[in-house]
Amino acid sequence: MIPASFVQDLLQRVDVAEIVGRHVALRKAGINLKGLCPFHGEKSPSFIVSPSRQTYHCYGCGAHGDAIRFLSEHVGLSFVEAVTDLAQQAGLKVPDDPRTPADREREAGAAQRQRGLHEVMARASDHYRAQLKSHRPAIDYLKRRGLSGEVAAQFGLGYAPDSWRGLASAFAEYDDPVLVEAGLVIAGEAEGDTPAKRYDRFRGRIMFPIRSVRGEIIGFGGRVLDSGEPKYLNSPETPVFIKGRELYGLYEARSAIRNLGYALVVEGYMDVVALAQLGLPNAVATLGTACTAEHVQKLFRFTESVVFSFDGDDAGRRAARRALEAALPFAGELRTVRFLFLPTEHDPDSFIREHGPEGFQAQVKQAWPLSRMLVHAAQENADIDTPEGRARLLAQAKPLVALLPPGLLREQMSAEFARIGGLPADDLRAMWADAPVAQARSAAPGGERGSRRAASRSTGGRSLPRPTATLLDRAAWLILQRSDLWEQLTADDHEQIAAQPEPYGSFFTWLDRGVHEHGPLTQAAWLERLQADTAGDAPLVLVARLGQLHELDPQVDLRAEWDAVMRALRLQAVKDELNLLIESGESAELSDAALARRRELVDLQRELKMAVIPSAAS
Ligand code: UTP
Ligand code: MN
Repeated sequence: MIPASFVQDLLQRVDVAEIVGRHVALRKAGINLKGLCPFHGEKSPSFIVSPSRQTYHCYGCGAHGDAIRFLSEHVGLSFVEAVTDLAQQAGLKVPDDPRTPADREREAGAAQRQRGLHEVMARASDHYRAQLKSHRPAIDYLKRRGLSGEVAAQFGLGYAPDSWRGLASAFAEYDDPVLVEAGLVIAGEAEGDTPAKRYDRFRGRIMFPIRSVRGEIIGFGGRVLDSGEPKYLNSPETPVFIKGRELYGLYEARSAIRNLGYALVVEGYMDVVALAQLGLPNAVATLGTACTAEHVQKLFRFTESVVFSFDGDDAGRRAARRALEAALPFAGELRTVRFLFLPTEHDPDSFIREHGPEGFQAQVKQAWPLSRMLVHAAQENADIDTPEGRARLLAQAKPLVALLPPGLLREQMSAEFARIGGLPADDLRAMWADAPVAQARSAAPGGERGSRRAASRSTGGRSLPRPTATLLDRAAWLILQRSDLWEQLTADDHEQIAAQPEPYGSFFTWLDRGVHEHGPLTQAAWLERLQADTAGDAPLVLVARLGQLHELDPQVDLRAEWDAVMRALRLQAVKDELNLLIESGESAELSDAALARRRELVDLQRELKMAVIPSAAS
């Protein structure tokens, strides 16, 4: 956990004007700086950056904060990422950093290598852009595709001339291995004494630079002019370019996503550019790969609503199914995910050129809600007019519904599937009882409400995890922040918490082992380990879910919050045991020992209830 004093220190060392200035064009206005607000659309600047106060403030939309807030709200970094970034820039070491000097040295080396890659990509991009200006056929091609000069400039489009060593004119040292590492140059096999032949990867292609959310160029997509195979060639993955994580156009679309209230996910680079030109600047695209949970998670840092658009062909339908699976862990009553299927002959580019922005917006309005897509996916090859088909439907629905976070939407979907599958809702619940669906459900209520009340008292109600998070989400997330609290639990607590439904049971067992091995670590270190751990899908689902939670204000009393969560979990365990005893008491006479235990549990329950909701009665 990062101490508040360090955060204060850090904020005094960095310059908010410089940080904001990298993303927003600022000009002097008296002692302050002024620019167009990146948090809402505006034509005249009402966004003020104050170097003396080290804050920014928008008089138009009320956006306000310091350098850390800017990095998290505008760039989409998490609190820990923003602090780590700033600390690196200020040359400060984040306290309680669990990394050894050797680790840090290795990471510094990696960071340097990444900077090297960014520099090379930036220079290559400058080269490609300059080449575009002097290559008539490339310009004509873009014109034929209907692109304006402005939008081409906005997305930094360029051209790689059809030549084997075109980049040699941009790089004095064409043999520099970093060009190969960046994927810009391909090195053939060396043969005997003949050294490996090197040549440009991208030749005779329109170049689409791909930017990270921080604005650095991290890769390229290159399209042939007119026909040729492959149509698009993409940079290979490098330490700075991981396709399952990056989205084309996100850097350019961030503000629009916030202003328009949703992100539009399309399939192609050309689609993003065409939509931006014709009035839908909130589109992003995956990089020729399937949509991943990480993509979705990234988008939900900027908005509460994501619309996927798929081409009307078979490939589009398959892609939609993958996107559904990637999006389910993040959907909920507060976050909407919708699916838009264009007519068969269209992609977004051709559709908006034929029907205009209004036509496209009408399609967005008609997009399927997640629930419809979920039912559609579960119905695949299932004829619901027959008992066999309905059984198949329910079998196919179960793993999909289990991907939804516990909460109202999941309850609604279970009820919906019971209706379509022709089973009473309670029966379906019982049949799905071995899935996390029903288990997590029974673990959530009861303590949930009470602990939230207790927690909001202890923290003044500031930025608590979102309401879709269950008690167990909160417990998992809190213990990553304060793993020192783990060893203070009793053996009973440990046992009970490890017996929670999946993925939580595995998670807490994993954490228990980790604390024994490494002692308490920082949240960042745990998350890194969790992500690196490939023990089944459980941790991944959990990482996705934890990413859904807000970063807490560093001032929040995590200890009090943790205590409240643990009390609620204990209360839940007591209730479960008590219910069991009461149920068995209905069918058989209880032994004296059981009766004594029941009295004990009733007392315990009363005590715990008082502790969980101390002010509820008053
Ligand atoms: P599409 O074939 O739908 O192309 O591929 P497009 O974006 O509509 O392009 P235009 O309109 O013909 O110029 C969608 C995306 O799939 C990836 C690219 O990311 C592309 O934008 N792709 C496609 C490849 O990576 N390689 C290919 O050969 C084709
Ligand atoms: Mn197209």
